[in-house]
Amino acid sequence: MRQSRKLDHIKYSLQIDDGPIANSFADFKLIHHCLPDLVWDELDLTSAVAGIALANPVIINAITGGAEDVGAINARLAEFAKFTGCTMAVGSQFAAIENQSVEPSYRIIRQINPQGTVFANLGAYAKPEHAQRAVDMIEASAIQIHLNPAQEMMMTEGDRDFSGYLRNIAHIVKTVEVPVIVKEVGCGIAREQAQSLVDAGVRAIDVGGTGGANFVAIEAARKNFRPEPELLEWGIPTAISSVEVDQVLPDNVDLIVSGGIRTSLDVVKALALNGKAVGLATPILKMIQQCGVEQAVNWFNGFIETVQKYMVLVGAKDIPALTGVPVVITGYSAQWLTNRGFN
Ligand code: FNR
Repeated sequence: MRQSRKLDHIKYSLQIDDGPIANSFADFKLIHHCLPDLVWDELDLTSAVAGIALANPVIINAITGGAEDVGAINARLAEFAKFTGCTMAVGSQFAAIENQSVEPSYRIIRQINPQGTVFANLGAYAKPEHAQRAVDMIEASAIQIHLNPAQEMMMTEGDRDFSGYLRNIAHIVKTVEVPVIVKEVGCGIAREQAQSLVDAGVRAIDVGGTGGANFVAIEAARKNFRPEPELLEWGIPTAISSVEVDQVLPDNVDLIVSGGIRTSLDVVKALALNGKAVGLATPILKMIQQCGVEQAVNWFNGFIETVQKYMVLVGAKDIPALTGVPVVITGYSAQWLTNRGFN
């Protein structure tokens, strides 16, 4: 069941477009800087999350592993990571915790990219000792713990007991030897839950907001039914969720922005909203599956070059400088944030 679900997720995420739901970055405007005091060759894209150095701010967000057929996809993603310097998270490793025989579909990323920075991944129900096993399996620098209640609710075989997750996350934080990152998978995180996660000791929060991969739509496609439109639109848009979460983060907890990051301008806006990194899943999966690794790397190089062009246009030579550039918030996002008491 788990293996065929993983293949379905790949199949439908390749077929389904992002759809009309916005990541809300269109409401966030950066201001043109007509006197950028910088030199192109000195632009610096290095970053750090939870004390882990990143060669560039793009994380290949968790996608797959755990079935024989998806090992080849992880191999391609690892090649992409090796050539681009991106950090790579693997998909949920629970399959390998339950059944050791599928470990090679995760371990392959280390064979291909032994020096790369990689993140482990499990759900919030994972036992702390399982979390440490997931980390050891791929020599990960950090572990992502994913939250996906909307997806589970859409799956007939999905979880129905969500109790005790926060307490469990706090146990994982205390047990594992690496930083814990908590991420949503496409419905966003509000500031109240972000505060609880900070109190539980997590070192980074990846907002995983709406605007990109839509697991309500993916699960509906798997079961061939049509959910009501409001359910398809459920969640907090990525840019809004970034502001919500950032408001409660102390200096030692980092913001990661993901969910519908599609353009170089999305990346620059995410970093301007205090993101230390962005996560992309579907665009990279589509590129490597539909065009191959070489073309995907070419695409990425152009993508990053455009990020650098925007950095010049806002006068920021590096990621800390981007954090300080002014952002004007308009429309729906401004209304949302005003109603929620942000000023
Ligand atoms: C995912 N995602 C995901 N996330 C996670 O934490 N564990 C997982 O196992 C998976 N599996 C998975 C499979 C497939 C096929 C896709 C497309 C995505 C979610 C992913 O990491 C990310 O949060 C969302 O896809 C949103 O980002 P994009 O796709 O809009 O860039």
